[in-house]
Amino acid sequence: MSIMDLVKADAMLPERYKAYSDQEMEEKIHAIKKELGTKLFIPGHHYQKNEVIQFADATGDSLQLAQICAANEQAEHIVFCGVHFMAETADILTTASQKVYLPDMRAGCSMADMADIFQTERAWMDLQERFGDTIIPLTYVNSTAAIKAFVGRHGGATVTSSNAAEIVKWAFTQKKRILFLPDQHLGRNTAYGLGVPLDHMAVWNPITDVLEYDGKDDDCQVILWKGHCSVHENFTVANIQNLRKSEPDRKIIVHPECSHEVVMLSDDAGSTKYIIDQIEAAAPGTKWAIGTEMNLVNRLIENHPEQDIISLNPLMCPCLTMNRIDLPHLLWCLESIVEGAEQNIIKVDDATSAEAIAALDRMLQRP
Ligand code: 13P
Ligand code: SF4
Repeated sequence: MSIMDLVKADAMLPERYKAYSDQEMEEKIHAIKKELGTKLFIPGHHYQKNEVIQFADATGDSLQLAQICAANEQAEHIVFCGVHFMAETADILTTASQKVYLPDMRAGCSMADMADIFQTERAWMDLQERFGDTIIPLTYVNSTAAIKAFVGRHGGATVTSSNAAEIVKWAFTQKKRILFLPDQHLGRNTAYGLGVPLDHMAVWNPITDVLEYDGKDDDCQVILWKGHCSVHENFTVANIQNLRKSEPDRKIIVHPECSHEVVMLSDDAGSTKYIIDQIEAAAPGTKWAIGTEMNLVNRLIENHPEQDIISLNPLMCPCLTMNRIDLPHLLWCLESIVEGAEQNIIKVDDATSAEAIAALDRMLQRP
């Protein structure tokens, strides 16, 4: 979405939503949820603010939310509280008569924006020339529908942070090499965990169109797209070293979007659901430092007073795009549905959807 589109989207929230108190907005949202009943479904990602998550009919990580949306056939309106690629995935996985909405169109994902389809087609041509027909593309679900369609078209699959290892394992049964889009860190962490040495991994730079690789071509097993999450890159080796010095008994758990060095120095790593499960299963009094988005860390702190939880980076900010979804935008979206003047519908065109679904199905059909 261009800057002009963003500005336009911002201008669209009617002024009156800025004047309501939180209580007024909450009462109106409760009333609309009651009125629409099962015609309305609100999935909420774990990174959403509490003011929004309180209205979610289901919460989850990216994989769970994709599965939940795919299984829901009764809701006419799916108001996705998350980011743009998640709403696109929900649209692709639901029926043509179900409408998916994103309460604020500015809720994108900076990582997903790091791979556009033109860069990807260019990279593919170059890599095919260099390595021949030996590569299968995989894309993290944090990618646009066009990238998912590209991957589907070339026999590949989507992955999430919950199932990346399973899908990468499967991909190596299909081809000698994988191209992993767009998160180099999830790709590197996953492949390394499966035994691929770091010096068998190359990095494709989409800005310079250069493959950054010192090894022999024949050894190259993984080509990582040079993308990253601008939130998780803020967890650093220095954060871990400081903590290990001051509190050696504090367990460090991070999301695999963190750099390889950070994941290696941590005690554990996994998806948002995995992190929640580890905290819930731990003995009371366990000390944790968590390396993921702040809304989730703060919620875990609130929900688990029996544990001692801090953020791995004490100066961490929330994911700004996830935070775009707030009470005014949620209420505006819901009122527009009730009034029949729907806003912010996410609709992936049929051709893109048909190819993207092949990539998503290859993921969802794996155990
Ligand atoms: P999860 O699938 O682990 O919820 O991660 C989604 C995401 O965007 C993390 O930054
Ligand atoms: Fe995207 Fe990172 Fe935000 Fe997740 S935390 S939605 S990867 S920018």
